[in-house]
Amino acid sequence: MASGVKREQWSSHLGFLAAAMGSAVGLGNIWRFPYLAGSNGGGAFLIPYLVGIAVCGLPLLMFEYAAGRHYRLGVMGAFKAMSRRYEVVGLAIAAMVFFILSYYLVVAGWTLGYLIATPIGKEAGFSAFTATWWPVACFVVTAVVCCGVVMLGVTKGIERTSRALLPLLAVVIVLMAGYGMTLEGRGEALSFLFKPDLSALGDPLVWARGFSQAFFSLGVGMGVMITYGSYMARESAIARSSVIVASGDVSVALLAGLAIFPLVFTFGGPPGAGPQLAFETLPQVFSHMPGGMLVGSAFYLLLFVAALTSAVSMLQVVAATISDRTGWSTSRATRWLVLPLLGLGLLSALSYAPADLRFFGQPVLDLMDTTFGTFGLLVGALVTCIAIFWLADGLAMKEQVGHGAPRRFVAWSGFLLGRYVAPITLLASLATLAASLIVLGELRGR
Ligand code: PHE
Repeated sequence: MASGVKREQWSSHLGFLAAAMGSAVGLGNIWRFPYLAGSNGGGAFLIPYLVGIAVCGLPLLMFEYAAGRHYRLGVMGAFKAMSRRYEVVGLAIAAMVFFILSYYLVVAGWTLGYLIATPIGKEAGFSAFTATWWPVACFVVTAVVCCGVVMLGVTKGIERTSRALLPLLAVVIVLMAGYGMTLEGRGEALSFLFKPDLSALGDPLVWARGFSQAFFSLGVGMGVMITYGSYMARESAIARSSVIVASGDVSVALLAGLAIFPLVFTFGGPPGAGPQLAFETLPQVFSHMPGGMLVGSAFYLLLFVAALTSAVSMLQVVAATISDRTGWSTSRATRWLVLPLLGLGLLSALSYAPADLRFFGQPVLDLMDTTFGTFGLLVGALVTCIAIFWLADGLAMKEQVGHGAPRRFVAWSGFLLGRYVAPITLLASLATLAASLIVLGELRGR
């Protein structure tokens, strides 16, 4: 492995926490969580989601940081250090992250488009928006900004951006949730979100979706946390930081629910609209409610900030992989990634623009999200579990996590949860999702 440049390090523990939180909190919390909860039984969805975070997500998060800090390499390098044959698996994960990033930036671009359209009072229904070339232009701008941040480096780019934007995000979401609690529809929203319809829990798909959302939302299983852990100082406490990141991530998702559902229940609109919730239902709500321009602008600012800091972390995974391998700086590696990223993302961007680009009759973006964002992610998490809990130097991992944490907690999460519970759960979720897709395909074919 070439190591031409000295590895950067977060400038402080707080800097690391900001970057880690910026990576975890993203579209997954503010766009994906509310719409999934909305269309999967409301409060009932919370149970598998929270169980997934506590039982599988948190152990994986901790041990990913541990692997990164122990091996001081990105995902491919770390996997290779665990077992030579596993290098290619690390490479596959980095490639998958690149694919996810390519369409994630398109959705991030939409939030930028809405952020521009809302304050100038342009009512932006989703089909009106995608009938223009705005989505493509916004994707290009977002992708270039993302590359710019990563090119500036770990401390000057990622850490500084997260430190500046995260407090903004926290203030906006708390204000919006607070506003939601003053609205008439709050009672309905609260019972929708927190009173589980337990019969929905009999549906294995609700569990599978809840688990995959837990992984997506925490951002585990994609090498991001290994990469961020590799810039972590020796003295930072991993277990405590992971608990902080996971609770911050869950809090933002819940606050997003508290901000969105009162709006939906007060001003009308179906809570279970699916992915359209943020881009079709809410714009209508904003255009009808008093002060909607302000609330709407705040909401899209929130989405954009959250998406950008997550996208940056994905790009860093790919840049670090190239940098570990070639000895180039991550900045130089990123420069080489700009054009491929734009090219690949364009396919998704064009599928929600006048070009209406489709493969197999489906918009490219949807295809990417199912293939990489749903299945790929679960497979990524599964192979990461195998690498970290079976192949890596277990003692060294436990030592990394154990610093400042109760022994039993480390042993439990590392051994029982990481080795057995998480992989079995992941396999079950994968099987359930695959079966449901096959059934759906058959129904469509009839
Ligand atoms: N966790 C991010 C979100 O909630 C998405 C993400 C996934 C980021 C994987 C990094 C890695 O939107």
